[in-house]
Amino acid sequence: MKISIIGAGNVGSLTAMRIAQDGLGDVLLLDVVKGRAAGKAMDLEDARPVLKYNYHIKGSDDKAELKGSDIVVVTAGLARTPGMSRQDLLLKNAQILKDVCLNIKRQASDAIVIIVTNPLDIMTLYALKITGFKPNKLFGMGSSLDSARFTNLIAQELTLAATDIEGVVIGVHGEGMLPLPGFTKVKGVSLDEFIDDKKIESLIRRTVNRGAEIVESLGTGSAFFAPSAAIAAIVKAIAKDEKRTVGLCSYLNGEYGIKGTCLGVPCRLGKHGIEKIIELDLSPEEKSKLAESGSLVAQAAAQLPA
Ligand code: NAI
Ligand code: 2OP
Repeated sequence: MKISIIGAGNVGSLTAMRIAQDGLGDVLLLDVVKGRAAGKAMDLEDARPVLKYNYHIKGSDDKAELKGSDIVVVTAGLARTPGMSRQDLLLKNAQILKDVCLNIKRQASDAIVIIVTNPLDIMTLYALKITGFKPNKLFGMGSSLDSARFTNLIAQELTLAATDIEGVVIGVHGEGMLPLPGFTKVKGVSLDEFIDDKKIESLIRRTVNRGAEIVESLGTGSAFFAPSAAIAAIVKAIAKDEKRTVGLCSYLNGEYGIKGTCLGVPCRLGKHGIEKIIELDLSPEEKSKLAESGSLVAQAAAQLPA
């Protein structure tokens, strides 16, 4: 299996490392900056004898190298700087994404494509438009990261094992995301058995703000350890045909009463991409918040050049 990652920056190169260490396939790193992807790939390959993996890792600035990819992860783009919202990135990253997507269409039209570039939901909808790919084969990574953050913050608060908690966050990967405490369980037990409403509200606020909190703390660049872990888990679910249910930014065609936009929702994932969108039984208020986010995503994507 050939897994290509476009953008050999923080998220892209760490994703390459995780995929190689998980033994999922050969990895290609592509970047516009001459030598960046090649240097990182050489360094990663040198670790093979120590870490005991045999797949190849190649780096290049030649877009034609994408040919024959089975899975393509798109992390090319600019990252947030302090005070910058994901929305501020929109026009710059749309330009990059269009170029990248046209190349994917030329070189790897059968690949499953995972968009990571921000603003995630708009970029995913835009990528679907540019490529004309089927929505089960092109989707974005965002809500699985947000769910991991919600879970981790709950685990910290309750001093419980993070692996015993299943936090659920859906919706847009941005300020309008929808953490769902009602669907969040600790080994099957509802969250409100452990914690009061006021504390839950504060954990929700911290989850929504987590990406910005990391940006502020770093001073330059944005998060990459948890994002790359979330991407690698998605790649693994496809490569191993795991049939896992994962939060993915997916095109909605009537699910949740929403049509023609992309939002994070739980999806069953296997070797052909998204096999099923899972519909949670949301409250009317949650449904209306989700629909509102979906409209904003569609409006923003409609303004981008065709
Ligand atoms: P970075 O700046 O470290 O890396 C981006 C890389 O993309 C750079 O090496 C740059 O040279 C490359 N690039 C730019 N244009 C390109 C093109 N046309 N072709 C190939 N490569 C190109 O940024 P980082 O931290 O890796 O983040 C990448 C993107 O992912 C950003 O937009 C960031 O906001 C987003 N992100 C999204 C997350 C999510 O949950 N969806 C989580 C973390 C980051
Ligand atoms: C994050 O949430 C930057 O979208 C990225 O950390």
